[in-house]
Amino acid sequence: MTEPRAYRAELALRRAMPEGLKTLGRLVRLTFQPPPPSAPTIPQGQLDGCALMSDRVEMLRRLPKGGRVCELGTFRGDFARAILDIVAPDELHLVDVSFAACRQDVLDHPAVRRHETTTTAFLGASPAADFDWIYVDADHGYEAVVADIAAAKGRVKPGGLLVFNDFARIVRRGFGIFGVHQAVSEFAVAEGWALAYLCLNGEALYDVALRRPA
Ligand SMILES: C[S@@+](CC[C@H](N)C(=O)[O-])C[C@H]1O[C@@H](n2cnc3c(N)ncnc32)[C@H](O)[C@@H]1O
Repeated sequence: MTEPRAYRAELALRRAMPEGLKTLGRLVRLTFQPPPPSAPTIPQGQLDGCALMSDRVEMLRRLPKGGRVCELGTFRGDFARAILDIVAPDELHLVDVSFAACRQDVLDHPAVRRHETTTTAFLGASPAADFDWIYVDADHGYEAVVADIAAAKGRVKPGGLLVFNDFARIVRRGFGIFGVHQAVSEFAVAEGWALAYLCLNGEALYDVALRRPA
């Protein structure tokens, strides 16, 4: 994975780029890069116990209170605020290459531990399975999500959850490519983690939570 400082610069450059130029870049990428294959089918046995939620906030209401939680990708900190208010974790570890846009009330919260680095650098720094759940919402490209899963799966306690935002497949002009659906489906099939929650969303960008076998 790219070194944190280089990745931070790359993200800042991408954000500063005019929309027209970004769309042109995506068009060129989609022209030369074949669309990814369909995701594998997750066996029904891993889906039978999955609860359907109206949205991701409803899932937060069902999660155990307290505990040690991690959010990969925080941006403005709005979902981190919801986690703090609803789940009241003992520790909320926030990981982002930059907290420049993050709301101050989140950064100042006593439960918050801030890690200004890449997701994989943070997760790879310890082998301990020390999080009750990890929320994955950083880079949504296929390779990046595969890397996040590889680094995060061992950091979740047995029986804990790995939760993904934007569980979607988008291969469309102007939108870039979202590989979350494919990467998560491949992981579920390969490692047998059951789906615990599927959370709906008005843009059909769902959240999905997978439970680490106990
Ligand atoms: C979609 S936003 C997060 C939104 C937030 N979870 C919420 O729901 O309010 C994605 C964030 O991930 C960060 N990010 C992207 N790739 C990253 C990486 N490899 N390591 C750390 N942060 C990353 C970006 O800087 C951005 O702030």
